[in-house]
Order: sequence, then structure tokens, then C-alpha cells
Amino acid sequence: MSEHPVPRPGILDIAPYIGGESRVAGVKRVIRLASNESALGPSPRALEAYRAEAQEIFRYPDGGSVALRRAIARRHGLDAERIVCGTGSDELISLLARAYAGAGDEVVYSRHGFLMYPIAAQSAGARPVAVPEKRLTADVDGLLAHVGSRTKLVYLANPNNPTGTFLPRDEVRRLHAGLPKSTLLVIDAAYAEFVARNDYEPGIELVQGAENVVMLRTFSKIYALAGLRVGWAYGSAGIIDVLNRVRGVFNINLPAQAAAVAALEDVAAVDRAREHNDIWRPWLERELASLGLEVTPAVANFVLVHFGTGAKGSDAAWSFLQSRGILTRKMGAYGLPEHIRITVGLEEEMRAVVAATADFLKAS
Ligand SMILES: Cc1ncc(COP(=O)(O)O)c(C=O)c1O
Repeated sequence: MSEHPVPRPGILDIAPYIGGESRVAGVKRVIRLASNESALGPSPRALEAYRAEAQEIFRYPDGGSVALRRAIARRHGLDAERIVCGTGSDELISLLARAYAGAGDEVVYSRHGFLMYPIAAQSAGARPVAVPEKRLTADVDGLLAHVGSRTKLVYLANPNNPTGTFLPRDEVRRLHAGLPKSTLLVIDAAYAEFVARNDYEPGIELVQGAENVVMLRTFSKIYALAGLRVGWAYGSAGIIDVLNRVRGVFNINLPAQAAAVAALEDVAAVDRAREHNDIWRPWLERELASLGLEVTPAVANFVLVHFGTGAKGSDAAWSFLQSRGILTRKMGAYGLPEHIRITVGLEEEMRAVVAATADFLKAS
């Protein structure tokens, strides 16, 4: 008998997720480029809808998020019955692992994929299997080679965070085609709205034709509502039924539902966010490359920059930027200790991070 409560085997092996920092001691106006949040902030209509619910917060929200699911379905041309909302897509990532994998099972993901995948697998008691990438991009053949009879789920972030790379439609199809029907493919398209590529498809097409695919989306990125925690899944009736059984009954709070509906309807705000990103991500990539840094070609709202090690390496760069009040993200936890990830921010923030990086590289 233990002297204290003991969690299930494997739980204490989980390396806790550490989010991006948001404060620098002694600096009033911090430039926050560490968490892939929106540069422009939320739609004024979303803010108004959020405030309008203030008088009602003594009421429970609609547990089925019906208005929100209908708004999502309208916007994307989907069936609202095949959508389930989650407290951020994080909740859905965890629930899928808990519902479909357990002790003795395996969960496959790409080596530099989003950190919540191995955490979700381990929380469920399953074994996360990290598959090496090619040129910092998910490798379909490698992923398929690691799928066996114990593989219950394959998580694919497309585009991927933190590398910023993506798999084209045909490659995702090839991945799905190679999976057993009993293995669930989770396509996490958190950054889909930023992608301007003809060969990209967020997963809707695959979900429509298969029982073993689910697509995850979020309001945290282009819709700029990260603090409200709203995500959604689109999948076959069977998968949606399972998620509805295991999710929190009132998992999307009242003002969050209202704000998300308003954000969806403000198409102009989304366009502005996309246009801003289309200008400033390539600008950031070009400027950093012209300083001699290796920047992984990206399709979302952040870039992965290779600094290397030593005096001009990633740790030194991160600390230098932090000393200037600029927060970026260290990548050691993702197996990329020589890199830093920088989120696309406002114009002045982009100019500040490039100027500070140039100073860092010049300083002796
Ligand atoms: C690939 C990916 N999936 C999911 C999430 C989580 O998003 P949410 O805020 O909806 O939980 C993130 C957040 O950074 C992400 O990068």
C-alpha cells in the first residue's frame, strides 16, 4: 500500500507542456511572438458579442453549442450534426486519445509534430511513437512504416506547428490510403486559414469519404480567440458520437459561443488577418534569410529559424531577444534545440524582431 495516491503507470513520465512566456521582468510593453496568436487581435464584432453575454453568465451555456455548430456548418458547407466543439482543439486532441487508445496501444505522430500528441497519448496510457521527418516535414512513408496492429491513432498537424511545413492534398490521401480502417487519422488543421496553396486541403474532403478520419480546427489562430478556448472537430457520425459521450457537458462557455459565432460571421476580419500574414510572414522570412539565417519555408503564421549552437546559437539569440522585450519560443521540447520559432506579429513588432536579431548577430 502506498503512502499517497499514485497515478496510473506512465502519467509521471509525461513532460508537462510549457506554454510560451508572456512577461519579461522590468519590461512594460512586451512583444509577444511566442504562441502563434493572432497579430491583429479579434474581430470587433466578436468582442461586442462577448460583452453582450456578460449579463447572462449566471446561466449555463447551451451544452450542444448548437448555434455555433450551425454557424461553422454554414461557413464551411458542412453538416452541423457531424461537428463537435471542444474547449480549444487541445481538448479534442486529448479526448480522441482517451476514447480510442489505452494501455498496450500505440499513437503515431511526426517527430516534430505538435507536443500535445505525445502528451495526449501518454495521458491515455498509450505509447507515443515519434516518426522521423524529412526536411522538417512529415514523411508519409515513414509514418506508414510505423503503423502496426497496435496503432489506434495517427496525429498529423497540417500545417505543422512548429516547423510551419505542410503536406499537400495527395500526400495526405496517400497516408490515409495506407492506414488500416481501424486506425483513426486525426488531421489537425489549426492553421488552415493561413494557407494559400492550391495543393492544400485541410481534411474536409477526406472526412467526407471515410469513417476513420477526423479534422480538428480552432478559433485560437486566425479568429484570434485563443483566450476563450474554442475548437471543433468534423468527423463521421460514429466519431462525433464518441466525442459527445466523453466531452465536458458544458465545455464551451456562454460568451465564448457568442464570440465565436460573431467571429465566423466577420469575414472581412479574417481576410484582413490573412492579408496581413501574407505580407509579413514572407517579409520576416526574407529579412532573416538576408541576415544569413536558415529559415524553414512556412505556410502558417510563424517561422522556424535555425540559429545553431554556441555564442550565436538559439539559446543566446532567445535571451538577447528577451532582453529587448521580445518573446519568441525555444524549441528544445520539440527536438529542435538549435531553432527558435517566431510568430508573425504587427509591422512594428516584425521590424523590431529583425532589428534586434541583426544586433544580436553583429554583437561580439
Ligand atoms: C497544431 C496545433 N494544434 C492545436 C493547437 C491548440 O489550439 P487550441 O488553442 O485550439 O487548443 C495548437 C496551438 O498552438 C497547434 O499549434
